[in-house]
Amino acid sequence: MRLLEVRDLEVTYAGGAAAVRGVDLTVDAGQKLGLAGESGCGKSTLALALLRLLPSGTRVSGEILLDGEDVLGMRWGRVRAVRWAGASIVFQGAMHSLNAVHRVGDQIAEPILLHRTATPTGARKKAGELLEHVGLPAARASAYPHELSGGQRQRVMIAMALACDPRLIIADEPTTALDVMIQAQILRLIEQLVADQDLGLIMISHDLAVLSDTCDRLAVMYAGRVVEEGPAQSVYENAHHPYARALSAAFPRIGDPASRFAPRGLPGDPPDPAALPSGCTFHPRCSVALDGCATEDQRLRDAGPVRRAACVHVGVPGSAGPGGRTGATSVGAGAEVGLGVEAAVETEADTASAADEAVGEPASEAVGDAVGEPAGDAVGDAVGEAVGEARSSTP
Ligand SMILES: Nc1ncnc2c1ncn2[C@@H]1O[C@H](COP(=O)(O)OP(=O)(O)OP(=O)(O)O)[C@@H](O)[C@H]1O
Ligand code: SF4
Ligand SMILES: [Mg+2]
Repeated sequence: MRLLEVRDLEVTYAGGAAAVRGVDLTVDAGQKLGLAGESGCGKSTLALALLRLLPSGTRVSGEILLDGEDVLGMRWGRVRAVRWAGASIVFQGAMHSLNAVHRVGDQIAEPILLHRTATPTGARKKAGELLEHVGLPAARASAYPHELSGGQRQRVMIAMALACDPRLIIADEPTTALDVMIQAQILRLIEQLVADQDLGLIMISHDLAVLSDTCDRLAVMYAGRVVEEGPAQSVYENAHHPYARALSAAFPRIGDPASRFAPRGLPGDPPDPAALPSGCTFHPRCSVALDGCATEDQRLRDAGPVRRAACVHVGVPGSAGPGGRTGATSVGAGAEVGLGVEAAVETEADTASAADEAVGEPASEAVGDAVGEPAGDAVGDAVGEAVGEARSSTP
């Protein structure tokens, strides 16, 4: 059984537009999944949805199966238990997630007291052990958050996330605010913890280079959807989707002469969820868009045995590769494309007919849980190469 299986997840904030639009994900024990994408593409929303930490009034539909148990159908008592013992989040921004007026040891001990049969002394002892586990002296348990450095606070957040022995850790930008040395330490720590304890990990970051170095698989999001997914190194080095390709090209590679011109950047802004472009939502920014891209939605399709991408150029035999180059290696049959479009239509029809379930927690509880409480292939490669060639020939 999968540790986490997410099927057709849709999230719409109260009074807003859909921030997550039909995401499917799986994570197995011991597997590290990286989630990347520009600011506002829905990464944190997805993470919060997994543990029902979204504000009251937010509509969530689809399925979130944690160890086979449907998170969206759980009673609140069960959700609270699962938040710590089933899965836990290392929140974006350690300073804001720790309570400034409580000692860090007490904050780590609190979920242990709430969710484990432990005495206050036992919980404090376990808090000290957890601090040592993440490379801090147990004595630092008596420190307040402001007495710790950014890297130390992030270690405290990781210790807290481990407090009730979860099976899955969701780390939202765990190293973004840290210098590169501390960033490397924290990443190695997370990798070691996942390997030692056979945990599942979802790591969120803008930084594709960090994710490709740390994770097994990589999912790239754009406008609330996963647009490419596959083995981390292949997606980073040879993305098929033009957006994933551009994101990857934004990071210079040491030793690669082409990187002398990096970062290349991407023109335009991420779309407003309330006014998404028609067809492929990336088409206004896509340098290899075809005429149909402005009207035809593109859903994920096979781009190799273990890769998927949502682009018309993926899986079309004899089509002009991105950049207009003809003769790019074809993937799959033309029928695949037809199927992909049909599948998209079906999925959207299903989604439209499905009654959205409001799963928002009362706001005060959500805030309490999130803040007040311790927060707590070779196939298709030619398509990618064609994108690269097109880009490198672009002045
Ligand atoms: N509480 C909220 N109420 C309404 N809309 C929200 C709320 N939180 C986020 N959004 C909107 O949902 C979309 C996705 O936001 P989200 O925070 O998930 O993006 P992100 O990918 O995590 O971005 P970043 O990389 O900047 O953290 C954005 O358009 C954002 O404005
Ligand atoms: S479907 Fe069209 S617009 Fe979308 S990424 Fe592919 S080529 Fe670009
Ligand atoms: Mg975020």
